[in-house]
Amino acid sequence: MIRTTTIIALLMSISLTGWADERTEKAIEARQGLLLVMAQYFGPIVAMAKGEIPFDAVAIERNAGKIAVLAPMLPDVFSRDTSDSGIETEAKADIWADYDDFTAKAATTAERAEALAAAATQGRGATMKAIGALGGSCKSCHDDYRQKKITYSDGAEPAPSIGLGLADSPVALGAGFLSDGFLDHRRSWI
Ligand code: HEC
Repeated sequence: MIRTTTIIALLMSISLTGWADERTEKAIEARQGLLLVMAQYFGPIVAMAKGEIPFDAVAIERNAGKIAVLAPMLPDVFSRDTSDSGIETEAKADIWADYDDFTAKAATTAERAEALAAAATQGRGATMKAIGALGGSCKSCHDDYRQKKITYSDGAEPAPSIGLGLADSPVALGAGFLSDGFLDHRRSWI
């Protein structure tokens, strides 16, 4: 009898662990997916700021507007603390230790994206300044909460900050401008 109970308890704990791991994996996939989508919209803006593709105020306004909608979702997709899961990611445990600050940084990004959408109608100078401010808000969160120098045990490279396969994306303006060199270059930027 004792044996049966022990076996049942063991089986339950095994299946519960499996379930929790799957939830954790999904949570990590979701948050990294959101960040990638944000980067898809920001990539062309940065390329314009660098003069790598033609300046297009309408596209900047549109893409910045999308980032303003996505950034407030960051605290939602990071709500699950995965720091003890044993799954390697670039998210630092400090996120969950100081979640209010993390949330505030997401809000700053949303505000600056809105400001950029507005600045895009006010000429190049104002737009460039606003692009810098938005990029600075990505960097500010990465500086505190993203472990960029991670060494994955399977040898995988840390994710670049901007991009990944953007050339085929409807967001990309002009196929091919996001070359590998471009991605490496961006990596050090935020
Ligand atoms: C509130 C904090 C915060 C803000 C704001 C933020 N990021 Fe991040 N970002 C992170 C964290 C944390 C990670 C690591 C996530 C992980 O590994 O699970 C990350 C990772 C990424 C990644 C890699 C995703 C992947 O494939 O694993 C990209 C791309 C990225 N950020 C782009 C941006 C861009 C572009 C902006 C600004 C428009 C931005 N981020 C703003 C916190 C933030």
